[in-house]
Amino acid sequence: MTETRRGCPVSHTDYTGHAPILSHYGLLDADREEARFLYNDTTERGFFMLQRYDDVQEGFQQHETWTTAVRSAIRPDSSNEALLPQDLNGQPHVKLRRILNQFFAPAAVRRMEPMAKQRCIELIEEMKASGSCDFVKEFAIRYPTDMFLALLGLPVSDGEQFLEWSDDYFGALLAGDPSRAEAAKASIMKYFDEAVNERRANPRDPKEDMVSRLVQARIDEEELTQDEILTICLTLMLAGLDTTRSALGYIYAHLAQHDADRQAIIDDPTLIPKAVEEFLRLYPLVFQAGREVQEPQDFNGLELEKGDVVWLGIAQANRDPRKFENPDRFDVARHNANQHLAFGGGPHRCLGMHLARLELKVVLEEWHQRIPEYRIKEGTELMERGVQLSMSSLPLEWDV
Ligand code: HEM
Repeated sequence: MTETRRGCPVSHTDYTGHAPILSHYGLLDADREEARFLYNDTTERGFFMLQRYDDVQEGFQQHETWTTAVRSAIRPDSSNEALLPQDLNGQPHVKLRRILNQFFAPAAVRRMEPMAKQRCIELIEEMKASGSCDFVKEFAIRYPTDMFLALLGLPVSDGEQFLEWSDDYFGALLAGDPSRAEAAKASIMKYFDEAVNERRANPRDPKEDMVSRLVQARIDEEELTQDEILTICLTLMLAGLDTTRSALGYIYAHLAQHDADRQAIIDDPTLIPKAVEEFLRLYPLVFQAGREVQEPQDFNGLELEKGDVVWLGIAQANRDPRKFENPDRFDVARHNANQHLAFGGGPHRCLGMHLARLELKVVLEEWHQRIPEYRIKEGTELMERGVQLSMSSLPLEWDV
């Protein structure tokens, strides 16, 4: 007899391991098709899985009773590390988002486009003559790092040094090496601390400069503390760098292996914004978000209790055949691609989504103008890491 928990079949699928590229989507699809709701017992707290598009979308709207006290169903303890605005809920969250939103709104992001293009072109030109690169290690992380510094009004010339620290930090977190992670984090926090103090001494226009705005902002007449401002800076780094690197990795792994899709965007670059949306749908790397239930509730027949952990299955929703026809196919003309949930939903929807879209668009445009033909180095076995999907390496080659 199938094992059940509160009426849900129990899944033992571990979503945290290393595996050949794209294999996590196979596991996610299989779980979604097994039952509408599952209970997964691979973590100490366990979690109830919402997996179909309509349920996941509705789940993101339950923010009054499901909070980010748990942000990741598979790593519930990660919430011990403070993140802002993620950790706030209700009115305090709305108020902080209001301060941050102006720097991430479409118009603000559009103003960054000339700079985004120029930096992208410089980085591509630097590596073009070599005829090869590790796309993930040399380009896909360097570019968002420079953009992140520019967004905070910090010098892009610090990019290389900053990248060393953030690489060390991510690497140590993944390797489960807390003392190395703490050391790397200390260097990053010192850098932010100096930048914030510099703005306190020499404020710039708070309409244009995010750090100056954070320094001057009041929430219910209270200033943000130095710690809160530093946490916001660290959060933007944690939320914006690895995600964009991974998105670029999956997109380029796809384009290097699908000549017709690559040719289509070379022949007609105006397709690129639609291609970006379809890539975000097809390769969602934040494949789940977690929430903690604050009061008992019947959610479409699923009996939830206070303290339960809920999994909002982003990737399962994006690949749900009930919503998207032939969901495993890349279809640049897909009419509803932009209804994907790759950036989440509800009040915690990704703060950086317009910036991410801009970065992906600019890279696809500028790269294909300069390096239209490329391939994955022969003999490469592409692997991905679970938790939040990412590739550590994507060796590409092209003729020079
Ligand atoms: C392709 C790239 C990206 C993807 C797929 C992505 C995905 C997501 C998702 C799914 C969430 C919602 C999590 C939840 O509901 O618990 C989120 C939240 C967030 N993202 Fe992104 N993200 C990307 C890029 C960025 C960038 C570039 C930044 C900023 C520089 C950023 C900053 C944030 C922040 C601050 C939050 C928390 C929002 C809140 O709680 O109010 N993200 N992101």
